[in-house]
Amino acid sequence: MATTYSICVIPGDGIGPEVTGCAQRVLDALQDSVGGPAFAFEQHPAGLTAYNDIGQALPAATLDAAKSADAVLVGAMDVAALPPGVPEPLTGLRTQLEVHASVRPSRTMPGVPAPSGDIDTLVVREVTEGVYSGIEYQAGPDAACAVRLVTRQASTRTARIAFQHAIERRGKVTAVHKVGALKLTDSLFLEAVEHVARGFPQVEYETRNVDACALEMIRAPEDFDVILATNTFGDILSDVAAGLAGGLGLAASGCVGERWAYFEPVHGSAPDIAGKGIANPMATVLSAAMMLRHLGERASADAVEAAVTAVLVAGSPRTGDLGGSADSQEVTDAIIQALSTPV
Ligand code: NAI
Ligand code: MG
Repeated sequence: MATTYSICVIPGDGIGPEVTGCAQRVLDALQDSVGGPAFAFEQHPAGLTAYNDIGQALPAATLDAAKSADAVLVGAMDVAALPPGVPEPLTGLRTQLEVHASVRPSRTMPGVPAPSGDIDTLVVREVTEGVYSGIEYQAGPDAACAVRLVTRQASTRTARIAFQHAIERRGKVTAVHKVGALKLTDSLFLEAVEHVARGFPQVEYETRNVDACALEMIRAPEDFDVILATNTFGDILSDVAAGLAGGLGLAASGCVGERWAYFEPVHGSAPDIAGKGIANPMATVLSAAMMLRHLGERASADAVEAAVTAVLVAGSPRTGDLGGSADSQEVTDAIIQALSTPV
């Protein structure tokens, strides 16, 4: 009998439920099309809708469900529309699931214009500290401070994830810093990374200043494989990479820790197109493929990625963000169809 995985789906707000619904359809099709595993989906609320309905943006029951499931798939949450003072649910999810690294692949896809030439990178970013550590204070009426926290432990475990991925990819890690300006924090970060690098002699290791790195990514994206960064630098560079690879409609991501992980598209709840059924489901479908890989279901992950690629190669159907006029379900139908007709 095929394995059945329990998946906690947190659809969230706006286009979140639309795109997670599409990804569920693709996952459900795996068993019949490629002999993949089966899935038992459970939907749980979080985000603005949850806050409006039950007064909590991240209900305890949702967290419990996320912790006990085999894997977690998240849509998007309209965090900007939450009233001030409501704890940010995405940060809550990361903290509670003890995920410390965000992993974002960006790859030029067939038939999708790449503004600077081919790119195939993986940004691995620490997500619990750095400038986003949440330590901020008012330093008098006209000044405010944010503390940039960097620890050896968080830097080391994020670096390990980066080097482990590099082995499976093209074997190169670029660590990003600004050590000239951030002498203590980035020296500690680089020291921790170098220590990890010594354990991976087969991986080429280099360091770059963040500003020069952004410029080089645009000038020569093919020079980069795994990009390892602290929180804010990684936040910005992963959007640069997503832009170089064809935009938000295709950008997938995962957040991983020692025990738990969750997977989500990079895009948000897109209030401007929510409810119209026209969101590109590919970013969420590709995030589901990352989830499959994380579960050890390589063949199914490969099949889903190949099916998305096949639909892009065909040129249609495509949603509006990729220049087409198809809706989300038509694109999902085509992906499911491509699963059964391997190239
Ligand atoms: P957004 O990513 O939701 O939308 C930016 C633009 O891209 C919009 O024009 C939207 O229509 C388009 N877009 C996004 N995803 C698309 C898709 N799958 N197909 C076609 N077009 C797509 O970013 P925005 O507008 O800045 O944020 C909206 C809300 O989402 C805010 O509350 C923000 O805080 C939240 N957000 C949540 C994230 C998450 O849950 N992880 C991540 C990013 C933003
Ligand atoms: Mg961002």
